[in-house]
Amino acid sequence: MLILGIETSCDETSVAILEGDGRVRANLIASQIERHQPFGGVVPEIASREHLQHLMPLVERALSDTGTSLDSVTAIAVTSGPGLIGALLVGVAGAQGLAYGLDIPLVAVNHLEGHIYSPYLQSNGPALEVPERGLSIVVSGGHSSVYALSRDGRIVMINRTRDDAAGEVFDKVAKFIGLPYPGGPHVERIGREGDASRFKFAVAQLKGDTFDFSFSGLKSNAIRIAREEGLHQHVAEPDAKRAGTLADFCASFQRAIGDQILDRLTRIWSAMESRPDELPTELALAGGVAANGALRERIAAWCGERGIAPRLPEKKFCTDNGAMIAFAGIKKIASARDPLRVEARSRMQVGT
Ligand code: KG4
Ligand code: ZN
Repeated sequence: MLILGIETSCDETSVAILEGDGRVRANLIASQIERHQPFGGVVPEIASREHLQHLMPLVERALSDTGTSLDSVTAIAVTSGPGLIGALLVGVAGAQGLAYGLDIPLVAVNHLEGHIYSPYLQSNGPALEVPERGLSIVVSGGHSSVYALSRDGRIVMINRTRDDAAGEVFDKVAKFIGLPYPGGPHVERIGREGDASRFKFAVAQLKGDTFDFSFSGLKSNAIRIAREEGLHQHVAEPDAKRAGTLADFCASFQRAIGDQILDRLTRIWSAMESRPDELPTELALAGGVAANGALRERIAAWCGERGIAPRLPEKKFCTDNGAMIAFAGIKKIASARDPLRVEARSRMQVGT
C-alpha cells in the first residue's frame, strides 16, 4: 500500500507519502505562520488562500522528491475535520479530485485521530505498534483531551477541556506580552533561563466527578500577573530586570500548564488502578504542545514513576503534518468510501 496524506485544517499545508507499514517516504509542510503573524493569530481567509496555492505543488513535490508516480498511490487520506471550514474544504476537494481521477479510495481522517497516532511514527523505519492498552494525551492549539487507546483501533475519550485548549492559552498569554504567534515555542525558549517557582498558579479544580481540564482561569491569572509586572510593554527589547522577570514568568506559566496536565493524568491513573489487569502500558503525548521540552521531561518522569513507557513523538510529528493523517488513514483504511461522499466538517469529536 502507498498512501498519500493531506492536511489543511489550520495554518499548515502538509502532504505526505507513507508505505503500508507506516514508513514515511515524504512529509512536506508549507507553514503559513509568517502570513498570519502580523495579525497575532490565524486569519481563516488567508489560510484557505494559502492552502489553495500550496496544496497541488506540494503533492507534486512529494511525488518527485521520492520518485513516486501518482499511479502507484493506492489510497488517499485527508483531514475532514475538525478545523477551519474553508481550509478543510481545500484539502478535501483536492483529495476528492485526485482520488476520483485515479479511481482509488479516499479515507476521511479526524485531525485528532491523526495526532493520537503521531507518536508511533518514526523518521526512519516502519511505525511502532500501538499497544494493546495505551493512554494518549493530545494537547494542541484547539484541543486538550486524554484518551484510552487499544490496538484494535478503539478510542475512548476520558476528558476534555471545558474552555481553552493548552496551546491556545500559550498563544493568548504570549500574545498579551507581545510575543509572536504561535506563542508556545517562544514561551518555552524564554522560560528556559527562568525560575519556575517565582510566580504561583493554583491548579484549577472543577466541581463534581470529572477529570476535565480548565485552562481559562490560568490564562486570566497569567495575564493579570503579566500586567502587574509590566510585561505587556516593551517586551521586544526588555531591560535586564524585565528580561529576568519575563523569563521567570514564562517558566512559571509553562510549569502551571504542565501541573494541570499531570494533576489530571494522576487522577485518571488512580481511578484506573482499581482494575490492575486493565492498566495501560504506555502513555503517548501528542499535539503541538507535545513539542515542549519541559512537558516532555515531566511526562517521561511521570511514566517512569508508574513503570509505563512514555511515547513521545519526534518533534516534527507534534505540530500539524500530513504523515500523521496518512498513518491514521492506514489504520482506518477499511472505512474508505466513495471520494465524492467525504464531507468537510468544522466540528468533530473523536472516540466514544
Ligand atoms: O497541533 P498543532 O500544530 O495545531 C493544532 O491542531 O492546534 O498545535 C499548535 C499549538 C500552538 O498553540 C502552539 O503554540 C503550540 O502548539 N506549541 C507549543 C510548542 N510548539 C508548538 N506549545 C508549547 N511549547 C512548544 N514548544
Ligand atoms: Zn493539530
